[in-house]
Amino acid sequence: MRIGVLTGGGDCPGLNAVIRGVVLQGEKEGYEIIGFKDGWLGVLENRWERLTKESVEDIQREGGTILHTSRTNPFKETEGLARIKETIKKRGINALVAIGGDDTLGVANKLYEEGIKAVGVPKTIDNDLSATDYTFGFDTAINIAVEAIDRLHTTARSHHRVIVVEIMGRHAGWITLEAGIGGGAHVILIPEVPFHIEEVCQILTKRKEEGKTYSIVAVAEGAKAAKGSKFLSREVVKEGETDAFGNIYLKGITEVLEKEIAKRTGIETRSVILGHLQRGGRPSAFDRFLATRFGIKAIELVKEEKFGQMASLKGTEIISVPLKEAVGKRKLVPRKLYEEMVI
Ligand code: F6P
Repeated sequence: MRIGVLTGGGDCPGLNAVIRGVVLQGEKEGYEIIGFKDGWLGVLENRWERLTKESVEDIQREGGTILHTSRTNPFKETEGLARIKETIKKRGINALVAIGGDDTLGVANKLYEEGIKAVGVPKTIDNDLSATDYTFGFDTAINIAVEAIDRLHTTARSHHRVIVVEIMGRHAGWITLEAGIGGGAHVILIPEVPFHIEEVCQILTKRKEEGKTYSIVAVAEGAKAAKGSKFLSREVVKEGETDAFGNIYLKGITEVLEKEIAKRTGIETRSVILGHLQRGGRPSAFDRFLATRFGIKAIELVKEEKFGQMASLKGTEIISVPLKEAVGKRKLVPRKLYEEMVI
């Protein structure tokens, strides 16, 4: 039995731990594992490498993905489905393990509906994938963001400044909320709860009046101003740039906020974008462990012929759920949770 594994979409810490889990568990079952390069692009182009116990030794400790990744959507490529089927036939692949977020798993689900034996492993630092309590990568990302906010406190305090820190999260504010609370940000802005700039500035001005001469504003890259807001269109987008899955390239909220806060409050303001720092580097212990469990589960799903399913964390158990339950609907921060936490 030969199994193909691939990593697609944005990278995140823990991908290598999943790959290792797949290979070690796969070899235990007597399967041969091959890794496709650059996500779905490698399947389209028949580019791969053989993975063995030796080649994945210790990789759970490293960030990124040894298989590399891309945001290629085979259904947007000429003859995409036919080329995928051809590679699978040519390479004698009996099953595919797709490790990715909404887009990559959406493709895996469509391929499954086309008769290809595919299972999924959920990945995204944003933690916005439905049908799993957590995705790996998220824990590492919030810890990086918390450390960054901790560091920003001391410099903001020394200079009596407001510092706006932009955190990843296109549609969901999980990283911003958890890191913002953990790091003690004074204002937390997430996509799910559109903000009023007047309220933001009121909080900052009040803090100053109370003698607290510095503040930290944690803002998700996808945060939106409330409807009707004149200072900012609802989302700050770099015009015209989308990937093959139609995801827009968000850019600029921080710059706009920095200027607007300085103008309205008169407080010196600076900003920083954490960006891909949150995705790079070594995974946390939590992510290494969770990702390894997901990899092992993926092989169990193949063994049990539970195709069209995805490994998922429910409480402390790793279970399986249909891929179609995980894709197409995002797990967003409930307003109630935001209101409870942001006090
Ligand atoms: O989906 C994960 C994510 O890190 C988002 O938080 C972010 O908007 C996006 O990927 C960035 O993508 P890219 O690496 O293509 O800039």
